[in-house]
Amino acid sequence: MIPRTAPRVVLVTGKGGVGKTTVAVALALRYAERGLSTVLVETAGAELVPGIFGVEGQGYTPTLVAPGLWTLRLTPEEAIEDYVVQQVRFRRLYSMVFKNRVMGPFIDAVPGLHDAVQLGKIFDLYRESLGGRPRWDRIVVDAPATGHGLTMLGSARALMDLTRAGPLHDGVKQVQDVIGDPQRTGVLLVTLPESLPVNETIELGARLGESRALLRGVVLNSAVSAPVTAGELRLVEAGLSTLPGGEEVARLAARRLRQVAAQEGAAARLQAALSVPTVTLPDLRWGDAPIDRLGAAELSNLGGLLPLAELGL
Ligand SMILES: Nc1ncnc2c1ncn2[C@@H]1O[C@H](COP(=O)(O)OP(=O)(O)OP(=O)(O)O)[C@@H](O)[C@H]1O
Ligand SMILES: [Mg+2]
Repeated sequence: MIPRTAPRVVLVTGKGGVGKTTVAVALALRYAERGLSTVLVETAGAELVPGIFGVEGQGYTPTLVAPGLWTLRLTPEEAIEDYVVQQVRFRRLYSMVFKNRVMGPFIDAVPGLHDAVQLGKIFDLYRESLGGRPRWDRIVVDAPATGHGLTMLGSARALMDLTRAGPLHDGVKQVQDVIGDPQRTGVLLVTLPESLPVNETIELGARLGESRALLRGVVLNSAVSAPVTAGELRLVEAGLSTLPGGEEVARLAARRLRQVAAQEGAAARLQAALSVPTVTLPDLRWGDAPIDRLGAAELSNLGGLLPLAELGL
């Protein structure tokens, strides 16, 4: 494989609830801990990240949440306003035109515009400079759940096809040149190490189309580990059966071993289907000290487990 440089923009996507935000924060923390100036962009609506760090969020304005790590929340409305104000340099005009009852629905009706302006904001972050060098070494995007995440990725190209020429077309092309370039943008898919989510991820990989080249890897999040090896279990099984409750313990251990084997099978299937690295993150809810809400320390630990070099990130 040709060695690739790490992209400055990383989009994290996957099905709802699989751990996109968790992985995005873990990755962003890892970058920040390496001394890279990092901004984490939340796109899914709720502003969850500042709370994890016990900081008050400021929406669209980057907020420092940890050394080297800033976060902001992106909404289509603010991104559109930002874009238009940049273009016309006159906020009042924006309010007159875009907030009025006639134009509002029209804007909503342009296919892909909402997504494209959000990509536009990511592109602005990419271009932002400070003291003659890029302001952000890494831009990690907690992208919308798949389906929508993919539409967002393809939105700049879709809008280019729609406009064909003119200033909007040229603007969107600049965005596409960054977001569609595997050297500058990478995609990390998150899924659970179970058969159904893995099948869905394989299907998703097939639907990536032109974005396929951006895919850097898949994270199998919330994996369980085996309490004992199969051989160890066989050795102790006879003894366990004579103890009170021993059979139950043996049954649970055997079940966990099957779960671990299924995980390994799922990872191997993914690897074969998508031919990108698959990495596993443990489920911290099942560790020695069960955790029901991940905080900055746990996320930093998870980030430390991401094999960046292997992923080319
Ligand atoms: N490896 C893990 N160990 C323990 N808990 C985890 C792990 N990964 C995620 N969680 C927990 O599972 C829940 C869902 O994770 P998260 O919010 O990251 O998913 P998501 O894909 O971003 O969800 P949504 O689609 O709603 O945005 C959270 O409470 C999170 O703390
Ligand atoms: Mg999320």
